[in-house]
Amino acid sequence: MNKKVSLTGIKPTGMPHLGNYIGSIKPALELAHDYDARYFIADYHALNQIKDPVKLKDMTFEVAAAWLACGLDPNQVLFYRQSDVPETFELAIALMAFTPKGLMNRAHAYKALTQKNAEEGNPLDDGVNIGLFTYPILMAADILLFDADLVPVGNDQLQHIEMANDIAQSLNFNYKTEILKLPQPFTHKEAGLVVGLDGRKMSKSYNNEISLFLPEKKLRKTIMKIVTNSQTIEEPKDPDNCNVFSLYKVFATSQQQSELRAKYLAGGMGWGHAKEALFEAINAQLKAPREKYFELLERRDYVDKILLEGAEKARDIASQTISRLRKSIGID
Ligand code: TRP
Repeated sequence: MNKKVSLTGIKPTGMPHLGNYIGSIKPALELAHDYDARYFIADYHALNQIKDPVKLKDMTFEVAAAWLACGLDPNQVLFYRQSDVPETFELAIALMAFTPKGLMNRAHAYKALTQKNAEEGNPLDDGVNIGLFTYPILMAADILLFDADLVPVGNDQLQHIEMANDIAQSLNFNYKTEILKLPQPFTHKEAGLVVGLDGRKMSKSYNNEISLFLPEKKLRKTIMKIVTNSQTIEEPKDPDNCNVFSLYKVFATSQQQSELRAKYLAGGMGWGHAKEALFEAINAQLKAPREKYFELLERRDYVDKILLEGAEKARDIASQTISRLRKSIGID
């Protein structure tokens, strides 16, 4: 009866792209069938990057709408906004007392910035705010507040999960009780499979992404920009060494894949044809979610209501963790 808990946070700093869809949205929604899923929009994490209030609000709403459009069922998944669960911030403050500064010094994002400063001859902490420095503590609070067993994330987040474990262990050890549950990371096998327009892993930081809900015409136009070699139409082509085909493998059925593979090998097929086939395959999967997404954009109150109802239930769970914590630490 008691299902294990799967929890993840979605930082609302940009529209998801195809890589996010295949590597994180789809697998997280599949996990929700077997786990007690708790997925939230990490708006306070986004504040480190987005300081324009309208933009932060809009991104939070749009990213929530995107997940709902992709099939997140709020009756099955506890779906909420981090900022609507203030218990998060109380736990984060308590966790700070159990977090060695040296642990934070080792966090990838912080280290990357200080190293860049060092290389450029600037003071080490130039441009580093404490929100970035303590980012892993806030994330640990998100996770530990909800007794997460499993945290589905991309590889770039593994260190943060380890840190959440370290911090929780040090708190539990001090009070000789398992106050906080230790979470396990879960990385999706699909992650990293999706290549971008230039053939590198699809990523916002490479600027090679295909955004999830591009209108149909724009989607086709973007797909036509995928980098291919300069082989002529007549020449046979290698499907296993081609950016178009490697995306096709992610979106097309195995029957469609063998058909297109045969056309590659036979020659007489131009890149425009292969790209058109890819467009059809991607569009077939995204058409319905895209329509739902644009419909949800017009129903802001409905999306807000879902998040608020989620937050109410989330606070029920969160307040239990906080009262357990307060009793143990002598603040109750
Ligand atoms: N740091 C995560 C990211 O950048 C987002 C996040 C915030 C998160 N809190 C979390 C992920 C808790 C998993 C669990 O993608």
